[in-house]
Amino acid sequence: GKTFDLVIAANRLPVDQVILDSGETEWRRSPGGLVTAMDSVMRDQPGAWVGWAGEPGEAPAPFDQEGTHLVPVALSAEEVRRYYEGFSNDTLWPIYHDVIVPASFHREWWTAYQRVNERFAEAVAEVAAPGARIWVQDYQLQLVPAMVRALRPDVRIGWFNHIPFPPVELFAQLPWRGQLLRGLLGADFLGFQRQADAQNFVRACRQLIHAETKAGTVAVDDGSGRRVRAAAIPISIDFKGLEALAREPSVGERAAEIREQLGNPKVLMLGVDRLDYTKGIRHRLKAYEELLADRRIGPPDVTLVQVATPSRERVAAYQHLRADVEQTVGRINGDLGQIGAPAVHYLHHAYPREEMAALFRAADVMLVTPLRDGMNLVAKEYVTCRFDLGGALVLSEFTGAWHELHQAFSCNPHDIEGLKQTILRAINTPEREKQRIMRALRKRVSDHDVQRWAARFLAALDAAPDRAEPNP
Ligand code: G6P
Repeated sequence: GKTFDLVIAANRLPVDQVILDSGETEWRRSPGGLVTAMDSVMRDQPGAWVGWAGEPGEAPAPFDQEGTHLVPVALSAEEVRRYYEGFSNDTLWPIYHDVIVPASFHREWWTAYQRVNERFAEAVAEVAAPGARIWVQDYQLQLVPAMVRALRPDVRIGWFNHIPFPPVELFAQLPWRGQLLRGLLGADFLGFQRQADAQNFVRACRQLIHAETKAGTVAVDDGSGRRVRAAAIPISIDFKGLEALAREPSVGERAAEIREQLGNPKVLMLGVDRLDYTKGIRHRLKAYEELLADRRIGPPDVTLVQVATPSRERVAAYQHLRADVEQTVGRINGDLGQIGAPAVHYLHHAYPREEMAALFRAADVMLVTPLRDGMNLVAKEYVTCRFDLGGALVLSEFTGAWHELHQAFSCNPHDIEGLKQTILRAINTPEREKQRIMRALRKRVSDHDVQRWAARFLAALDAAPDRAEPNP
């Protein structure tokens, strides 16, 4: 078969196969920040993308899409349950996000995780050209680096974690912590969103597998004498591409139309998240509800649009969150809405990029309030769309994005009183001051876009030492 010099491995392909009621299949863009970022990166260079097509059962044949060779990996229905919904999203996801909900540990899930990681590694080894660069993505594939190294000692392997890497006290709960660390140490370079994430990883290696560590590197005890570097390279978005979209006249017209349809509120607030308990949607709604109940703000002058993209709908914690959010929205509207002027417009949908850009242009206050988030690209998308310097970003300190965009209206979402004050400040700060802030935020994203992120990551991968320096 055909081989490639750059191979991406991610749990998901950039497109999901959707089987329609008619039995026909359709390809749709996959949800989440990883796809947003990696899709832009792969548009700029030839390569292969190994990933799951989003449905259980046989994998579709490999195909080319917009210059990328897509290689679907099959997951059985049981593997979807155990590897994807189970180990990835009910074990690792909660542990890596500060145990906002409790994590579940099941030995069968771990077995499935190993088996699926092996399958990804085999698919990668098949399509990698001699000496290729392999770029493994995220928490679903932490064993792939060592597995690929065993199959293909000639390639260079990098891994990037899109989500936080937890403090060792939480990571240590994982019964398979040693295997996970050793899986990652198969890479030549490990990238993280924040410096704290890289430090947490190095510390876990030192404390849990007694690895020798120094200056952000970990010594591997496989006899090779290799050292693996762990460093922060925060991800970003395609600033130029998204800004160009936001500047389209049709997007501007749609933004005006949205405001019109909402009854031209004085203040339009917006939340855009996958419906995930890490996003702080409940905390945001609580602060908003109290502001309305205190009569500090209220419809028809103020309204909130909350877009909640459906996510991981078969995992119990997500079902509970959905029930809770929907009950809260119903209560807020029942208690505090008016005829023709609901307090919250709740949308459980995924929207195309154009509609998102129009919403961002229409919103006066953007609420990004996660309890923990590796990066949060929505914050970066919002400021990118505000070439008019309008709008205000409320941003949680617990996002990776805050470390770059701390000039935003910062909040601790656990502090409801503080969050209410911050929202009022975001509404009431004079226009000129808000413009000054927005200009600074935009400069940061435009100087550190996804193209620069990819170039930095690949340069760090290339700079990894070829082979061991002999032990002194
Ligand atoms: C986050 C993760 C991605 C994941 C995305 C969507 O951004 O870092 O790896 O793809 O969420 O979640 P899903 O489970 O639908 O792929």
